[in-house]
Amino acid sequence: MLGRKVPAVTFRTRVRDESVGGSNPFRWQDVASDDYFAGKRVVLFSLPGAFTPTCSTYQLPDFEKLAPEFRALGIDEIYCISVNDAFVMNAWGKSQGLESVKLIPDGSGEFTRKMGMLVAKDNLGFGMRSWRYAAVVNNGVVEQWFEEEGYSDNCDSDPYGISSPQNILAALRSQKIAA
Ligand code: BEZ
Repeated sequence: MLGRKVPAVTFRTRVRDESVGGSNPFRWQDVASDDYFAGKRVVLFSLPGAFTPTCSTYQLPDFEKLAPEFRALGIDEIYCISVNDAFVMNAWGKSQGLESVKLIPDGSGEFTRKMGMLVAKDNLGFGMRSWRYAAVVNNGVVEQWFEEEGYSDNCDSDPYGISSPQNILAALRSQKIAA
C-alpha cells in the first residue's frame, strides 16, 4: 500500500440536523474520500467491528487519549474506519464520548475491499469485515503502513499491536529523530 492513493469512495454518514425536527433529528450526508483525506496528514486505523472488546477497551480509547501526541507530531486528524453502518458507528462514538477521533462508516465494505483489507469473519457470524491495520495518509497517499500479521479469512485469533497508537507514535517519533 505504501505510496498508493486511498480508494475514492462515497461514505454514507448520518449527521445531526435540528431542522429535521422530532426526537431523532439526523439525516444522511454523503462524504467522499477526498473530504476526509485531501490536504491533510492523518492517521487512519481500521478494525473488525464497533463495540468489540479490544477495539472498545484499548484501540479506540487509546487513540482518543493519545490524540494530542499525534497532533504534536504533525497529524491533523485521526480516523477510525470499520465495516459497520453509520447508525452503529454513531452509537459507538457516543458511547465512547469521542472528541478527537472521527469515525468513518464503511457499511458496504467498499473502501476496505479496495484497500485489500476485507476478510471473512463468518466464524464469528460477522460476515465480511476489515483486517486490523493502520496507516499514515498524507494528502490521500499512504505514507506509512501498519498491518497486523496473519491476514486471513476466518482467523481464529485477533492480532493487535502493530496497529496500536503506541506503536504508530513510536514510529513517528523515531522518524522525527532520524530526520
Ligand atoms: C475484539 O476487538 O476484541 C474483537 C474483534 C473482532 C472479533 C472479536 C473480538
